[in-house]
Amino acid sequence: MSKQRVLTGITTTGTPHLGNYVGAIRPAIAASREATNETFYFLADYHALIKCQDPAAVHQSGMEIAATWLALGLDINNATFYRQSDIREIPELTWILNCVCAKGLMNRAHAYKASVDANIADGEDADKAITMGLFSYPVLMAADILMFGANKVPVGKDQIQHVEMARDIAQRFNHLFCKKEPLLTLPDYQVDDNVAVLQGLDGRKMSKSYGNTIPLFLPEKQLQKQINKIVTNLQEPGEPKDPDTSTVFQIYQAFASAEQTAEMRQAYADGIGWGDAKKRLFALINAEVGEARERYNELLARPDDIEDMLQQGATKARAISQPLLEQVRRAVGIYGFR
Ligand code: TRP
Repeated sequence: MSKQRVLTGITTTGTPHLGNYVGAIRPAIAASREATNETFYFLADYHALIKCQDPAAVHQSGMEIAATWLALGLDINNATFYRQSDIREIPELTWILNCVCAKGLMNRAHAYKASVDANIADGEDADKAITMGLFSYPVLMAADILMFGANKVPVGKDQIQHVEMARDIAQRFNHLFCKKEPLLTLPDYQVDDNVAVLQGLDGRKMSKSYGNTIPLFLPEKQLQKQINKIVTNLQEPGEPKDPDTSTVFQIYQAFASAEQTAEMRQAYADGIGWGDAKKRLFALINAEVGEARERYNELLARPDDIEDMLQQGATKARAISQPLLEQVRRAVGIYGFR
């Protein structure tokens, strides 16, 4: 049986937090260990430029994200781990796909529409501060996916539409240019309902845009401090508490075994104080990420090694992207005269 190609990108903005870990990184690393999968994970640094025009921040975030995945045990002999911008074929494919992608399809993209709606609501010009990068973002993402013949694309719910668009674009390309055999593989998105969407300090979804995150590799003391900031109600120790409306419990559960979760549930019923519940949460998280944190700090001190690993990944990735792009170019009529 041929392996499933599983591919996902991580936009290089910000520092990885517990929500990224639970929702994306941990399941992705688990998937990379399954023998039936061939996994492709990459730093989506061209995507970062859409959201961030601070060169130092883009660069730093890329390094932190690479170190995070490696520290958490991503095995580069197993997964293909690379930087989007090292794969020169991706922007080339993006252009070719731009030429088959209907503008109307992009008009319907949620991220773009949300920006337009916000402008209109503010009484501004509809296109204010909207770059072509934001508008055509899904085409670049389609190139990322189609370049490697991905079958499954694990994403958050907000990205489902983009994977569907990649599928539409591939279909259109195949229809126009591949009379015999389709060149581009139609991808499916994969949204894992068993994976928790973690709550942040204020109880809303943990997200950089809400400023409510707990960074993954904070030094111990700061991690404890940050956990202490999780908002709770005003119930006193001794009062029974409802685990199902508690952010502390929700995060605890994402790290706990079934048994530990049941014990914590009982502790809530027995009136555990918030301070104690937070101490237990800290201990649990710290036990899961402590060793990786050390590896992370060691890796960040050796950027050359990170670079070497990414270059190995790029070499592996380009062994796929170069021949596919050749075929795509040929299909559209761009090749030598000899
Ligand atoms: N757009 C995705 C996000 O912001 C990141 C991404 C870029 C991606 N290219 C991709 C995800 C290809 C899956 C496949 O989360």
